[in-house]
Amino acid sequence: MKTIIIKDKKFTELFSEQELKDIVTLCAQKIKRTINDTENLVLIGVLNGGIPFMNDIAFSLPGNITIDYVRAVSYGDNTYSSGKVELLLDTQLDLRGKDVLIVDDIIDTGRTAKFLKNHFISKGAGSVRLCCLFYKKGTLVEEPEYFGSYIGDDFIVGYGLDYAQKGRNLKNILKLSD
Ligand code: IMP
Ligand code: MG
Repeated sequence: MKTIIIKDKKFTELFSEQELKDIVTLCAQKIKRTINDTENLVLIGVLNGGIPFMNDIAFSLPGNITIDYVRAVSYGDNTYSSGKVELLLDTQLDLRGKDVLIVDDIIDTGRTAKFLKNHFISKGAGSVRLCCLFYKKGTLVEEPEYFGSYIGDDFIVGYGLDYAQKGRNLKNILKLSD
């Protein structure tokens, strides 16, 4: 079993690099099938964790799409949510009438997603949809329109996801094991 140590914690593999690629590809295909007006589409990635997933989704879509990023934090250096969402960096794009697709690494409580959805609606977006790679479905307050895989309650790292800012560069997904 593949195991690594990050700071004080042990992580074991949950999805191999190939399994992760398959999850991402299936999710990208779902988006491609259901979104036809790519001219009006604005992909907004959530920094920092959403970057690898955003790249793969964006490269899989046809047409001339607009891409931007926002930065939101709720976890700090912990393995649990602080319950409070902070927007550290906003988009400067004019979102009026646009079809926004939020692209994030993972939804846990759904607070970040709900906060961002309301934020983009208040900026005049015509529609706001949500795409996340992983989905914990805990005390969920926001359902994603697109997601890669449900993962239960595990805390995971890799492919953008971090523990205390470490592990974002891992090509597989590992879960906390002690
Ligand atoms: P929420 O607002 O509780 O849904 O938290 C979502 C954010 O918390 C994600 O965008 C991640 O940045 C972070 N997060 C949630 N679960 C994990 C995890 O298992 N590993 C790493 N980061 C996580
Ligand atoms: Mg995040």
